[in-house]
Amino acid sequence: MVNLDMSKYSIITLDEVHSTNSYALENVRFFDDKTVVYTTRQTAGRGRYKRRWICDDTENLYMSIILKPDSDFFPYTNLTQYLSVIVSGCLEDEFDLKPEIKWPNDILIDGYKISGILAESYMQNNQIKAVILGLGLNVNLQKQTAERINQKATSLSILKNKNFDVEKIMKLICGKFFEAYADFEKEGFSVIKEDYIKKCGFLGKNITIKEEDIQKSYYAKAIDDEGLLIVEDEFGKECKIITGDVLC
Ligand code: BTN
Repeated sequence: MVNLDMSKYSIITLDEVHSTNSYALENVRFFDDKTVVYTTRQTAGRGRYKRRWICDDTENLYMSIILKPDSDFFPYTNLTQYLSVIVSGCLEDEFDLKPEIKWPNDILIDGYKISGILAESYMQNNQIKAVILGLGLNVNLQKQTAERINQKATSLSILKNKNFDVEKIMKLICGKFFEAYADFEKEGFSVIKEDYIKKCGFLGKNITIKEEDIQKSYYAKAIDDEGLLIVEDEFGKECKIITGDVLC
């Protein structure tokens, strides 16, 4: 069901910005917990592992959710997985798509990336004071731009052959995100475990994981109760993966 409840968070809308994550980090002290920095035009978007997040002249969704949790037990490590489940749910329910999550939190449609998530923390005295949870969703990105990206990429507009209202999609995602957020804060990964596993396209397959410049091949066995990826290496030895990107 569509949830456009905006009472649980506040929005800062910018016409254009270098990067919503950078803007949120630069101004984090001025923002309350549950503030969303949102724009449809980003000029220097950043991705994971210092990659760029490409944009073009079309309107796309670029947003950063600022969270200032006050519990020592907050499930920081599962935040991006939580957001990936929320975004996939919206793509499935509202756009009739079949999204797959690629470890740990990329969202793909038929093998083409439509959304990426970048979480960054703001520390003081060795303590996390805030988390900036950045989301990029290709909404109206054009085919020519998608073809220039050095990875298979798509957008809602490419898939559905029409343009979409980005603000409405942002409110849809934020509504869903904050609807279940209190449960996620208390219970952590268990709140999304079933949905996350259902959408994991890589489980039961041979995968290559890349972290920085190191690549290793594994068999992807399962996701454990903490949201870690359990894999088996070429010698049958089991280990748990915390970060990295699945290449294939
Ligand atoms: C990735 O897949 O590598 C993560 C991409 C995250 C991109 C979003 S767009 C909004 C926010 N601002 C940024 O500069 N990056 C994130």
